[in-house]
Amino acid sequence: MTPIVGRAAETEALEACIAAGRHVLLEGPVGVGKTALARAVCAGLGRTIHRVDGDGRYSEAKLVGHFDPPAVLAVGYRPENFIAGPLVEAMQSGGVLFINELNRMPEGVQNVLLPTLDEGRLTVPHLGVILAKPGFTLVATQNPTEFVATGALSEALLDRFELVRLDYQGADEEAVIVLQDARCSPTAELVAAAVALVRATRHDPRIRRGASVRAAVAIADIATRLGGDLVRAAQIALPTRIELVDPGATPLAGLVDDLAKKAPVAARG
Ligand SMILES: Nc1ncnc2c1ncn2[C@@H]1O[C@H](COP(=O)(O)OP(=O)(O)OP(=O)(O)O)[C@@H](O)[C@H]1O
Ligand SMILES: [Mg+2]
Repeated sequence: MTPIVGRAAETEALEACIAAGRHVLLEGPVGVGKTALARAVCAGLGRTIHRVDGDGRYSEAKLVGHFDPPAVLAVGYRPENFIAGPLVEAMQSGGVLFINELNRMPEGVQNVLLPTLDEGRLTVPHLGVILAKPGFTLVATQNPTEFVATGALSEALLDRFELVRLDYQGADEEAVIVLQDARCSPTAELVAAAVALVRATRHDPRIRRGASVRAAVAIADIATRLGGDLVRAAQIALPTRIELVDPGATPLAGLVDDLAKKAPVAARG
């Protein structure tokens, strides 16, 4: 498991919520460290994680579980023919259900969670009522609503969560993360420049959504393989990771060149 760099306050907040049996919404931009923090905190508390990656086609049957159709045809709806989904597994084991990008899930699937979060109970047709064992907790993530095309969570669902917000970390901590995650042993200078460049994407007026520390890892690794060529590495790593305000008016190559050329200066300042 990757050791967590920094994040003392967020770790403490998340630990407190999970220990108190409170459900938590971890909010922060792509790549800010939501999954890494949740996994590290759960491991630290000795809690098992049942992980779900939300998307627009995720179904209630996937989340809750389903009866095995051939077995139902053969012998009918029997408890032993029920294949538990991650929600039922987490409830029955008193574990942590980790739902990535909860707000991308269809509203109907989100609504399944309402009674579960409140009362720790879930009614499954043909099976009966499932009661959550003590310790059952939901940790869900969402990217800030201004970045996503999908809807925000309903008021009713939000009312059942505590919020722990993650913002980008400082340059020094991001550099430690890059060193930790890089595969090609980049030099400290290259790491500092890659971090500075990626941080610059978050403040450039031409960019709607800047890049995360993942981009800095990629740039540092690729540049190392390209004999230290930061500009080329950034041209390869950034296009998939930033969103432009006006793609028609901003040639990507020029923008990346600009940012990359400024990066070593930014790294010193
Ligand atoms: N504080 C940190 N300490 C150590 N590693 C970190 C930290 N923050 C981020 N990382 C690393 O950065 C990468 C991205 O983090 P992670 O996957 O947790 O982000 P995320 O917010 O869950 O992203 P997404 O929105 O895409 O799901 C991972 O490789 C992770 O290990
Ligand atoms: Mg994640």
